[in-house]
Amino acid sequence: EERADAIRRNALALGWNLSALEEAGKLFILEARLDRNAILSGDFTIAPLLAIVQGAARRIKAKRIVVDAIDVLLRIYADPRRQQNELYGLHDWLTENGFTTVLTAKKSESQERISQYEFLDYMADCVIALDLRVLGQVTTRRLRVVKYRGSGFASNEYPYVIGDEGNVLMPISTVSLDHRALGPRISTGNEVLDEVLCGGYRRSSSIMITGASGTGKTTLACTFVKAACGRGEKVLYISFEESDDAVVTAMLSPGIDLRPAVKAGTLEFQTVMPEAMGAEQHLVRAFRQIDKLQPDHIVVDAISACKRMGMEKAAFDYLMRLVDLCKCRGITCLMTNQLEGFQPQSDFSGIGFSSLLDAIILLRYVELRREIARSLLVLKSRGSEHSNKYHHFVITDDGIRITSMPGATKVKSNVGRPSPAGSRADDRDRQSK
Ligand SMILES: Nc1ncnc2c1ncn2[C@@H]1O[C@H](COP(=O)(O)OP(=O)(O)OP(=O)(O)O)[C@@H](O)[C@H]1O
Ligand SMILES: [Mg+2]
Repeated sequence: EERADAIRRNALALGWNLSALEEAGKLFILEARLDRNAILSGDFTIAPLLAIVQGAARRIKAKRIVVDAIDVLLRIYADPRRQQNELYGLHDWLTENGFTTVLTAKKSESQERISQYEFLDYMADCVIALDLRVLGQVTTRRLRVVKYRGSGFASNEYPYVIGDEGNVLMPISTVSLDHRALGPRISTGNEVLDEVLCGGYRRSSSIMITGASGTGKTTLACTFVKAACGRGEKVLYISFEESDDAVVTAMLSPGIDLRPAVKAGTLEFQTVMPEAMGAEQHLVRAFRQIDKLQPDHIVVDAISACKRMGMEKAAFDYLMRLVDLCKCRGITCLMTNQLEGFQPQSDFSGIGFSSLLDAIILLRYVELRREIARSLLVLKSRGSEHSNKYHHFVITDDGIRITSMPGATKVKSNVGRPSPAGSRADDRDRQSK
């Protein structure tokens, strides 16, 4: 289909130097494209082509052959029966010569299988279907193993991404629940919040700070970031809403200076619009930076924006795999979630994955002495005691201040906060897990 130099060039874009392999005698590219001006006449078979291939294969002692694309080759025959015969001939030849062969063929949009080459499916030992579709304006690639003779395989569709390192497959089955136990306590950056949580966040746990716009989620998250970086720990901050400069500058107002951490390299940002790419691509980017930085903690601000990655399912997959990776590697994952409207909703977890969360902190606006103030409540904290009280959450020029709620203002919540019995159930749930 393609010219040899085009193949070499395209492979370079993925970081694969084919010319070097050719020079080392490990690869031979045979240009078998039919001349556009060739006139087909009389009867002919692909046997002479196979003889050329055999000669080339013998020269470099090849064990594997790739035919790209078999449907293009077979197009020289108008008669489908003839195509089939030639294919059988090719199959016999490949088997006799003991080659492992990868054949590619195009599948038309409307057909589930390439019906005219249906027997190809029967002939091959392994059939992999690749597919590209647009979901919610975001392109996603999926891979499915249709059959694999003499072997077990995972039969679901799996998303994959073509990046600068080739294809990256992200099977959900790798989400293994092979999580590390919650680690020791680490300071939240605020002494009172440490007390409220009976010692702080747990290392390698996933924590969500949820609240309406402007309630101070980013400020609370950055309080932790500053403290962690101050202890020499590394933090990756994934921001879906603001640029790194915007976050750092905005945090100067409540007296949280992140600049030294950025300068010291203990704090790195990854800022990208959720709709800029598909969930898988976001994931590959995040994984790559996690691999590079090896952070102790990551912040995702805000997970509610992940819905814009395409579909809600895509957002769920993204977060689930990110949280899974963090839990497997012992990385603390602090997420913020913006609630719509100003009353807490029943879906306080945003994307419906609250069971993956170890701790949930709710920030709310409350009316206090005819003023709007903020309150903080720990909704849950797995494997730990915590205060069940609302606390007064104040943002000052010098960081956050958490005090007990002044007066006896009763704040009604309709978020279905777990009752003490509920927390026992939670404990049982945790133990059974
Ligand atoms: N120096 C300060 N003193 C008092 N309040 C401040 C100060 N600096 C910022 N604030 C308050 O902090 C709020 C912003 O907090 P933050 O950005 O953490 O909220 P958020 O919950 O992350 O909001 P969003 O959902 O928009 O991202 C501002 O709206 C402002 O009311
Ligand atoms: Mg914010």
